[in-house]
Amino acid sequence: MKTEAIVPAQLEHTADGVPFSAVYGDLYHPAAGALAQARHVFLAGSGLPERWRGRDRFVVLETGFGLGNNFLATWDAWRRDEQACRQLYFISIERHPLTRDALRTLQRDPSIAPLADQLAEAWPPLTPNLHRLAFDNGRVQLLLALGDVAAWLPDIVAEVDAFYLDGFAPARNPQMWQPRIFKAMGRLAAPEATASTWSAARDVREGLRSAGFDVHLGQGTGGKRDITLARFAPAFVPRRAPGRRAQALTRDDEVLVIGAGLAGCATAWALAGQGIASRVLDRHPHPAQEASGNPAGLFHGIVNAQDGTHARFNRAAALEAARVVSMAIEQHGVAGGVQGLLRLETSGLDVGAMRDTLRRLGLPDDYVQALDAVEASALSGLALQQPAWFYPQGGWVDPAGLANALLAQAGPQARFHGGIDVQSLRRDEGRWCAFDAAGHLVADAQSVVLANAGDAARLLGLPPWPLEKRRGQISIAEAERVGPLPRLPIAGAGYLLPRVGADALFGATSDPGDAHPAPRDADHARNIGQLQQLMGRVIDVAPSSLRGRVGWRWSSPDRLPLIGPVPDAEAARMAARLDQPRLVPRLPGAFVFTGLGSRGITWCALGAQVLASTITGAPQPIEASLLDAIDPARFLTRAARREA
Ligand SMILES: Cc1cc2nc3c(=O)[nH]c(=O)nc-3n(C[C@H](O)[C@H](O)[C@H](O)COP(=O)(O)OP(=O)(O)OC[C@H]3O[C@@H](n4cnc5c(N)ncnc54)[C@H](O)[C@@H]3O)c2cc1C
Ligand SMILES: C[S@@+](CC[C@H](N)C(=O)[O-])C[C@H]1O[C@@H](n2cnc3c(N)ncnc32)[C@H](O)[C@@H]1O
Repeated sequence: MKTEAIVPAQLEHTADGVPFSAVYGDLYHPAAGALAQARHVFLAGSGLPERWRGRDRFVVLETGFGLGNNFLATWDAWRRDEQACRQLYFISIERHPLTRDALRTLQRDPSIAPLADQLAEAWPPLTPNLHRLAFDNGRVQLLLALGDVAAWLPDIVAEVDAFYLDGFAPARNPQMWQPRIFKAMGRLAAPEATASTWSAARDVREGLRSAGFDVHLGQGTGGKRDITLARFAPAFVPRRAPGRRAQALTRDDEVLVIGAGLAGCATAWALAGQGIASRVLDRHPHPAQEASGNPAGLFHGIVNAQDGTHARFNRAAALEAARVVSMAIEQHGVAGGVQGLLRLETSGLDVGAMRDTLRRLGLPDDYVQALDAVEASALSGLALQQPAWFYPQGGWVDPAGLANALLAQAGPQARFHGGIDVQSLRRDEGRWCAFDAAGHLVADAQSVVLANAGDAARLLGLPPWPLEKRRGQISIAEAERVGPLPRLPIAGAGYLLPRVGADALFGATSDPGDAHPAPRDADHARNIGQLQQLMGRVIDVAPSSLRGRVGWRWSSPDRLPLIGPVPDAEAARMAARLDQPRLVPRLPGAFVFTGLGSRGITWCALGAQVLASTITGAPQPIEASLLDAIDPARFLTRAARREA
């Protein structure tokens, strides 16, 4: 999907106080009131609250988030209904979102005012992403897609139970009512899905009919005689692609997760959020003893002039990481900070060119800023020599603390079992059975997640995935010996953290094909060299006086993780089409989460949310094009393309 810079709404009001858009020349809601419309047209029009009763999950998709009144009314109705579904997903697409300040100052009906405050509190930076905002302990999830509805709808991955069509009037806002919008709705509709809108325009009814909906008129409200109501009744329902099919999970079964590093612990957390229990096995007695066991590491987004796949995935992941790291710090006392991060510009780009890039991409200040060396120095408290990208929501954290906090957050839904070295996995009568070295069955489940880094493919007896193993060593000194430390983490070629306890922590080396398990003085010397470059001064510490830690990063050739259902390479040989990863056949019930490279802290939470949604069939928190980019089947697709 092409990135479109987000231009916030310019909200105006009519003389009698109704919110109005001068750009579209239309009201945000009828003068009779937003809530009356939300409750009559959208809630009652979708058969709510009755339709969500007794269900595990109910999914609404709205075109036009606007002031959020429909979302707030739906959330409020869900809260008031004792029989409501366990989870409510509300996907909404908005091209011109309000700023947080505008959202805060809106006059709201007292019945929804407290929810509106929570919404404003959680409001994200206005970047062109799908933003996941969780409320009521994750039981209500708002997936807010910022950008044009026509670009977003085909890229949303979800099964929608109720569509709320709430663009401005078709005559003033035709993009929201084009035939391709209705076509995309047909692709997203769950069986029995409904659609409702206050518009009774003939073209709207025709559009819905052509997408497979039965359409009728309902009693109008707010000065309208009729409204449009529709139910999905298609002549033909195409089968979902193998990479997009959810598991038929038995609710009382646990998912087996192998590996309790950041990937495995985050998976248990995300599954618990969707009401799914897991059993997490690791060969070590405690979680996060391997790559995820460094005392500290960084997380942040990236900027790329084309805003390609990497930039979009990293941005979405960094925003999710900021939320979970804040949770780990505030609720579990984990060491870390979310006060921002400076990434020095090392390619020679000057600050003017950096600012041009940000202006062109329309990225907001609360996501990233371009600072000159003076500004970066003032922020960090060190005399820096280069301009820097400042990520206000970046930071640092103790990764093992984060992994443990994620497990703790999952509560009794996640059971950790240490000291279990899984040697093989075999599927028997629909269950994945894990065996130890003596061939004893150690656990079994319908679904298994391989979150065991470089050892993942071996357990299934599959040829290795194309992952490169790189040795990395960090260096640790007593803080006083390095001199003044920055107030924020600084990254460039290498990185330096703010004071971690009594220590200065910096690094790291990155060497493929190096299996040496213990810290080496020669590597400390290289880390000191990088640190001197970063700080622009001589650091007078002897390598032999430093402590360190060694770990291995597993990276894919395209520097993106592998997250999704495990491809069935055998079945793929017989498949008619492999030209898109989602078309590649899969092993039933087997999933992988690996290849986190040097970005496990940034990627683990979003990756886990993606994986949990893949397993349960919940709406995906990232778009289809990004799902394809991280799909473990992408290498088969590329090989098939080369052979074609
Ligand atoms: C020096 C260094 C610096 C880094 N700095 C950063 C940074 O600043 N920011 C950042 O985001 N990332 C950083 N990383 C990367 C980050 O640490 C990794 O991406 C992340 O820890 C990977 O998590 P994981 O869960 O995939 O792997 P791991 O943490 O290695 O977890 C895999 C787990 O699987 C278990 N396991 C494996 N096989 C089996 C089996 N057969 N049976 C049972 N258990 C098994 C292992 O015991 C292990 O606990 C750094 C890495 C290194 C090495
Ligand atoms: C009537 S308002 C929505 C009101 C909203 N549902 C509420 O509950 O407050 C219509 C919204 O559609 C948005 N919009 C207009 N054109 C759009 C487009 N092409 N893509 C996405 N959103 C668009 C407008 O910015 C506006 O916020």
